This record gives sequence, C-alpha cells and structure tokens, in this order.
Amino acid sequence: MAQLPRVFSGVQPTGRLHLGNLLGAIKPWVRHQADRDNIFCVVDLHALTIPEAIDPAVLRRRSREVVATFLAAGIDPMRSRLFIQSHVRQHTELAWVLNCVTPLGWLERMTQFKSKSEGRGNVGTGLLDYPVLMAADILLYDTALVPVGDDQRQHIELTRDLALRFNHMFGDTFVVPKASIPEAGARVMGLDDPTVKMSKSLADERPSHAVFLDDTPKKVRKTIMRAVTDSGCTYDPETASPGVVNLMGILAAVTGRSVVDIAREFDGQGYGYLKGAVADAVAAELEPLQAEYARLMADEAALDAILDDSAARVRVIAEATMTRVRAAVGIG
Ligand code: TRP
Repeated sequence: MAQLPRVFSGVQPTGRLHLGNLLGAIKPWVRHQADRDNIFCVVDLHALTIPEAIDPAVLRRRSREVVATFLAAGIDPMRSRLFIQSHVRQHTELAWVLNCVTPLGWLERMTQFKSKSEGRGNVGTGLLDYPVLMAADILLYDTALVPVGDDQRQHIELTRDLALRFNHMFGDTFVVPKASIPEAGARVMGLDDPTVKMSKSLADERPSHAVFLDDTPKKVRKTIMRAVTDSGCTYDPETASPGVVNLMGILAAVTGRSVVDIAREFDGQGYGYLKGAVADAVAAELEPLQAEYARLMADEAALDAILDDSAARVRVIAEATMTRVRAAVGIG
C-alpha cells in the first residue's frame, strides 16, 4: 500500500465548538480518514501563552471536551491519532532546539503576535515564541500537510523557513511541510452576519452569531430562525443573498445534497421554510453527536485509555525525530 500523506492538525482547547468547526473542519477530517494519515493534537501548551486567561481545572476539562467532541463527531482513534500536546514531552524539547535557531526578528514580525500583544501591559515570552512551538508540533511528525485557515498561513511559512534553515545548518533532518487551505464552500459564515466566518470569539459576544455543538434543539431552532437573510425570495446560488447561500450551504453540508438541488426545492417559498429545514437538519445532526459526547465525558477511564494509546503511538514518531535532531546538534 502506498504511504498516505501525513497530516497534522493542531486544535486549541477552547471547549465549546460551533457548527463552523464541525462542518468546515471536523467533518472533512472524518471523511479524509481513509486517504490521509491524520494526527490531531489538542494544543494545551499553546493555551498557556495567555496566562491571565488560565484556570487550571478549566484548561484540563476543555482539552478533554475537545477530544470527546472529535471522537463523537466520528474521528476514529484507531485510524487517526488524537492526543493532548503536553502528554508528549518531545514538543517542548524540540521547541527549545528550534528556539535557538530562530532569529528574533522572524517572531517579532508575526502579525498574530502583534495583534495578540497589542494593548497588553505584560506579554509573556511564550506568546512571542508561540510559532516556534507550533513549528515543533508540525516538524516532529514528518508532516506533509497542515490544514489551516488563512489566519495561520504566516505560521506555516515560518515553520517551512525554520525547517529549511535547520536542514541547511545541521543537515537534512526535517520534512518541509505545506499548508492545505480548506476546500471552497467549506466555510460556514456567521448567522447574524453572513459576510464574516463563523467564529468562537464573535459567538461569545453575539448570541445569534453561531450554533454551538452543545446547543439544545430549541436553541438551535431559535438561532437559525433569526438568521439574517434579505427581504427577497431568491434561491439561485449565483444571485441569492449571502445569508441565504450560507443557509443552503449548511443544509447541503449536513444532508450531503447539492446546493443547486436545495435551491430548486425551495424556489418560490419564503425563507421561513428554508430556515425550518436547516434547523431540523442541524438539530438531527447534533442529537447523536451530543449523546455520544455525553457518554464519552461520563467515562473518564475510557477517555484516558484512548488518549494514552494515541500518545504512545505518536511518541514513537516524535522520539525518532528527536533522535535525529539530538544527533544533528550534538546533545542527548
Ligand atoms: N495556532 C493554531 C490555531 O490557533 C493551533 C496550532 C498549534 C496548530 N499548533 C499547530 C495548527 C500545528 C496546525 C498545526 O489554530
């Protein structure tokens, strides 16, 4: 069998995930389990870069919530690997070695560092160093592809530059990875503003922005019935308003039907019908996911066993890389 491309995804332990995460990222990952060699990592060490925001018990719980959500959505821990970053010590070890070959200027230029540190009196060194730890995550596993949104492109560029620089200084050690930007149409837009991507930060401020994966059917319906559309009644995907296109896209993603087919079905009817259908479909999609999530969160030992098993399997790869790295620089 030909080797499948190694894909590494880092996910923040933000706890509550929303419909955009499910339809835009998790479901496509589930579909790609057969043709990719996937490693999913919940990046709890990255969460430490904003220390003011940390509540230790909450961080620990949130990491597990993300893991349980992924499993409930269909990530198969036998085919893919799903682990928590801090469980595999090689991440911090490689980050240190990479630190020592990272020019400070490369980090000071990062736009996320600039925006995250802006207006904050006390910025930890970890925040500046965030992209180096991210590079370590990726390079530890001989990763070929990293699926990320546009906001992470610069970090992937830095990872590539670091891999090339290290290889040049110490000999061929790392695979140089590529970013894979999500397939078109996989983006779920805000229900209250279909011109922006559905996001956790906006959802926290605006109750009608997103459907969360743990919303009750009643809440799902309420949020979707309130979605912004327009006053017309046009379903043609070419000319319909962004809000209508977004709702049809959600329905298409959940049911597996095409947008054209959906547009034809609703042609001539008011938007209320479309919203009702979207609400029903999303609630039906979330129901089994929530049941499985509750089951997973209730059985701590079983979740630990899955995490331990995945961590043990990725550790083998990470340690092989570190053996090369230590030899290359003369430590260990
Ligand atoms: N920085 C990424 C984000 O905010 C999370 C992340 C950490 C990541 N390590 C990674 C993503 C490695 C991809 C690969 O979304």
